Amino acid sequence: MSAASGPTAARSALDAAASARVGFVGAGQLARMTHRAAIDLGVSLSVLATAPDEPAVLAGATAVLGAPDDPAALASLAEAVDVVTLDHELVDGGHLTALLEAGHLVRPGPATLRFAQDKLYARRQLAARGFPTPAFAEVGGVDEVEAFAADHGWPVVLKARSGGYDGRGVVVAPDAAEAGEVLAAGGEWLVEEHVALATELAVVLARGPDGGHVTYPVVETVQDDGICVELVMPARVDARLAAAAEELAVGVAGAIDAVGILAVELFVDTAGRLSVNEVAVRPHNSGHATIEGSDTSQFHNHLRAVLGWPLGSTRMRVPVAATVNLLGGEAATSLAERLPRALADDRVHPHLYGKAWRPGRKLGHVTVLADDPDTALAAARRAAATLMDP
Ligand SMILES: Nc1ncnc2c1ncn2[C@@H]1O[C@H](COP(=O)(O)OP(=O)(O)OP(=O)(O)O)[C@@H](O)[C@H]1O
Ligand SMILES: [Mg+2]
Repeated sequence: MSAASGPTAARSALDAAASARVGFVGAGQLARMTHRAAIDLGVSLSVLATAPDEPAVLAGATAVLGAPDDPAALASLAEAVDVVTLDHELVDGGHLTALLEAGHLVRPGPATLRFAQDKLYARRQLAARGFPTPAFAEVGGVDEVEAFAADHGWPVVLKARSGGYDGRGVVVAPDAAEAGEVLAAGGEWLVEEHVALATELAVVLARGPDGGHVTYPVVETVQDDGICVELVMPARVDARLAAAAEELAVGVAGAIDAVGILAVELFVDTAGRLSVNEVAVRPHNSGHATIEGSDTSQFHNHLRAVLGWPLGSTRMRVPVAATVNLLGGEAATSLAERLPRALADDRVHPHLYGKAWRPGRKLGHVTVLADDPDTALAAARRAAATLMDP
């Protein structure tokens, strides 16, 4: 084969036509949905994937095969692109620092990423800067959990300091015996007061390298067993609370120097007080309704932000957008087979991630736009049930 033909030549022709090249560490559904946006913008997207069947690779992003904890694989990704960004948080900050030192752009950088990786660090730093957080403490043994509970009451929430997601690594412990069992599993834990939740909110914003930012309307999120199951944009809260949530998130964004999409998960307790739960420094589940609901989706704005381009309008195109996640049930199901039935409702916008079924796994989501939240949620739930129920 001559050097001027074949897939490699085709790829360089594509790169030459591309307005910019962006590399994702990770190739999951967030990179997959960003790939759609990359196509619109003529951006060439490369992803560091551990296997060729990961969601973003199936969607056509250029795959660099390798592990996110392999410095050589990260370097190959970085060398192929103009800017490196993140699909997930499971990458060593030191490896990203090495990329920066080698002259690559990494957005967000490792110092920002640490806020999403290390829950104890994030709590300490944000609390020290005056942001409201639930009461928390580092715990080494069950005696320290008991001491914390003496001040804050049972149950308490035990959280793995790092590595948790979708509720894994978050345990509500009703008493010392259960706390002891959790800690016996090993690893580093923190303890938190169990907040009496009225609702949970998320603020998704896009922030450029110069600090300029745009904020989406505050989203209401519903968790089941620690995993996000549905969301409504805009949140059904009064305007004052929504404005306070937005102000808090913008403050956090500046404090952690976020670049790209930042999602700030917030608690609202039964007294109406806001506190920061955690941050995600990448496109986030709570922003999925922006695909159909907003002038510019979070995925478009993530690309625009990490490339230092002007950010797009976050205005909603409709009064309400509701999203229901498609989580793998106990029995294997085929979303593809059921899809035509769900599409019988012409308001349903499905997003299938191309992932194999596993119980509890996020396999896709559906969004419905409507004039009111009840209508949007009811239709999205019905579609999800059609797709998922045994
Ligand atoms: N201190 C707390 N008090 C009450 N509920 C809590 C507390 N901490 C966590 N939760 C509940 O557990 C959910 C998951 O917690 P958290 O967001 O910390 O975990 P995660 O596994 O990192 O989540 P994600 O999937 O968003 O990464 C929260 O959305 C909330 O519903
Ligand atoms: Mg969370």
